[in-house]
Amino acid sequence: MATIGELARQHTALSKEDVSHLQALTGEWGMLADLCFADLLLYVPTNEGTWLVIAQVRAATGQTLYVVDWVGAFANDTEVALLAAAFDSQTISEGEIMVEDLVDPCFMTAIPVVHEGKSIAVLTREWSTRGARQPGQLERTYQDLFARFTDMIAAGLFPFPGRVADSSVAPRVGDGAIVLDEDAVVVYASPNATSALHRVGISANVVGQTLAEMGIIDSPVRQAFERKEPVVEEFEQTSDVTLLTRCLPVLASSPNTEAVVTGAVMLLRDVTELRRRDRLLLSKDATIREIHHRVKNNLQTISALLRLQGRRLKSDEAREAVAESVRRIRTIALVHETLSREPGDDVVFIEIVRPLLRLSEEGLQSPDRPVRFVVNGDGGRIPATIATPLSVVVTELLQNAINHGFPEGEGGGTVVVTLDSNDTVLTIRVIDDGRGLSDEFDLSTATGLGLSIVRTLVTTELAGTIDMRQPTSEELNEANLTLRSGYRGTAVELCVPLRVD
Ligand SMILES: Nc1ncnc2c1ncn2[C@@H]1O[C@H](COP(=O)(O)OP(=O)(O)O)[C@@H](O)[C@H]1O
Ligand SMILES: [Mg+2]
Repeated sequence: MATIGELARQHTALSKEDVSHLQALTGEWGMLADLCFADLLLYVPTNEGTWLVIAQVRAATGQTLYVVDWVGAFANDTEVALLAAAFDSQTISEGEIMVEDLVDPCFMTAIPVVHEGKSIAVLTREWSTRGARQPGQLERTYQDLFARFTDMIAAGLFPFPGRVADSSVAPRVGDGAIVLDEDAVVVYASPNATSALHRVGISANVVGQTLAEMGIIDSPVRQAFERKEPVVEEFEQTSDVTLLTRCLPVLASSPNTEAVVTGAVMLLRDVTELRRRDRLLLSKDATIREIHHRVKNNLQTISALLRLQGRRLKSDEAREAVAESVRRIRTIALVHETLSREPGDDVVFIEIVRPLLRLSEEGLQSPDRPVRFVVNGDGGRIPATIATPLSVVVTELLQNAINHGFPEGEGGGTVVVTLDSNDTVLTIRVIDDGRGLSDEFDLSTATGLGLSIVRTLVTTELAGTIDMRQPTSEELNEANLTLRSGYRGTAVELCVPLRVD
């Protein structure tokens, strides 16, 4: 569907400022439709000498006259006379119109939209007597308010300049409305407003009192009166009730002087339940993070205890085995540390990979084996559930590159880790320019603990695939690696689906 801006550009000579005025009007007119219980249309005179509907809104409080959408349609002959009269005279005109497919008589109130002294469009209220609401105090009060707002539109006082209402959060008329007179005394409170007041302990009749006298926070009202513009405020009226309010001043123009405030309407909505759920979500998030923090602390204690035990061992093989276990536990602790800092259920993978590389670097501690680590890409966000197994796998691969690619005494080398992800698959490549795999090597029959862990985690737990082989010269180029003579390098590629069910 075409927007106001597009239609205005195609069919009219309206200036940018005029179009913004109309856009601001339609930002506010949900309230106007609710107050008059009827459909509102916005017409503009076109370059071709006709009238075009550029926007339409239906009331949440009344029955719609139009099932169809009239945006982009032109006015019929019965409508044109009323539209032109309102536009030319800058006064509100009313009369009977013919509407296609409707047999009942229909009526139109045509309200000139005036901006900086000039008519720029006509807002119309269109209704039929069939299906109208029974008139009661609510209906009379709202209709009266609507009439006062339309006077403001015709006088160029509405919509309020500068502010574009965020209609997604603002309370609507149906949420609860309180009408105030020029002294900020309540003249009417809708049933929903009265219920909201009951919940904050005000059960007396509110009509005839000011909000301050009733003990309701009245700063939005005072500000709206002083500044002559709408004020949105959310406050905790009592410890367990939160109200969201929007107070709009009603202005009347007076010749040669500034517009005066003749009253206001305060829309209010009880957002207690909404805010309670917000808080609950926040605290749930905080709890999960706290748990990750504690798990990390416990794992660190375990690894410290193991290290103490390892120092007392005599056999090199046993010491080495314990040291590997310590490294694996520290890897998992590191993941929990990252998760304890991240809100939500997923983590930025690179935030885990960086400290993993640091951990492997620390473990090297050998000046005659300088190994350099390079990371390309960031792998995006991954679900927290797969972060732990992936981290353990990456650590094993890094460790193997160091231990088997670059034997002590033969000088170091480079390990390049490339992370790459789309919506569904995370690809991790670890390439080293070390000695390479022996000719007999076969991943499916490799019996070492490290690769067994990698195989189990990747294929069983993560439902992914592993490929381990000599890198192609293309891959080496891409990773910016040059092999020393006699060295073949090793490439490991893991593909892991990001949604494991
Ligand atoms: N990056 C690599 N470069 C050369 N050989 C490797 C590499 N990664 C693994 N290997 C070979 O695979 C074997 C199995 O590795 P692994 O299962 O981790 O056991 P471990 O590291 O305890 O020997 C290693 O002993 C080594 O021969
Ligand atoms: Mg290993």
